Amino acid sequence: MQKVIDGETLEIPQHIAIIMDGNGRWAKKKHMPRGYGHKAGAKVIEQICDDADKLGIKYLTVYAFSTENWKRSVEEVTGIMNLLRFYLKDSVERASKNNMRIRVIGDKNALDKDIQDLINDAEEKTKHFDGFNFTIALNYGGRDEIKRAVQKISSKVKNNELDPEMIDEQTISNELDTAELPDPDLLIRTSGELRLSNYLIWQLAYTEFYFTDVLWPDFDMNELKNAIKYYNGRDRRYGGVK
Ligand code: IPE
Ligand code: IPE
Ligand code: MG
Repeated sequence: MQKVIDGETLEIPQHIAIIMDGNGRWAKKKHMPRGYGHKAGAKVIEQICDDADKLGIKYLTVYAFSTENWKRSVEEVTGIMNLLRFYLKDSVERASKNNMRIRVIGDKNALDKDIQDLINDAEEKTKHFDGFNFTIALNYGGRDEIKRAVQKISSKVKNNELDPEMIDEQTISNELDTAELPDPDLLIRTSGELRLSNYLIWQLAYTEFYFTDVLWPDFDMNELKNAIKYYNGRDRRYGGVK
């Protein structure tokens, strides 16, 4: 889909994935505790959802908590989980207003039971909305996701439901948490780090990468537009010749 942004006709990526990084450094710069940064970051997510929807982006998938983030202090992890509870509680109402479908990817089993219930509720109550697809990666790790997919495929083989010869790339994609989502067209990582940190490692095979030094709580519509402008300057060849 094309759209005129600031006088320029631009191709709008269908699916944008974001590694929202830099909350801690943002708080530190303000001489505040890390939790202050996470709170500010959570507000930005809501705004960026609206902005992405306005720009015509169909899918937005954000990295909220990785399988490695449990290494942080109990205080920080508890703070992030409480923000999540807060977000999920009023997400259904927001989603209804914006025709937004909410999904959560990652291993939900390790989360507190009340958070699992809030997730199930949000997913169930928004599943018929088809305007905008918002996906939160929570206790998500790309390697963990592939491990779980391999386990599901192996048990199908064991039960004679699947012939190993018939396993192709689509079989694997279908068993990932992202089975219902197209692969991202554009990945954005804030805060200047140039790594994937275990995010969507299968799905990002042919995605364009945009890195910015802006810390996540400072990310806004203007930054999102900059990322889309950058995307428009890329030549996606998928291994072919153009
Ligand atoms: C990203 O910000 C949010 C999460 C990982 C939950 P960080 O908390 O990683 O912030 P920095 O990287 O320490 O600045
Ligand atoms: C990646 O950020 C995870 C999220 C944004 C949720 P991290 O801050 O955890 O990544 P590293 O530790 O810098 O690689
Ligand atoms: Mg970080």
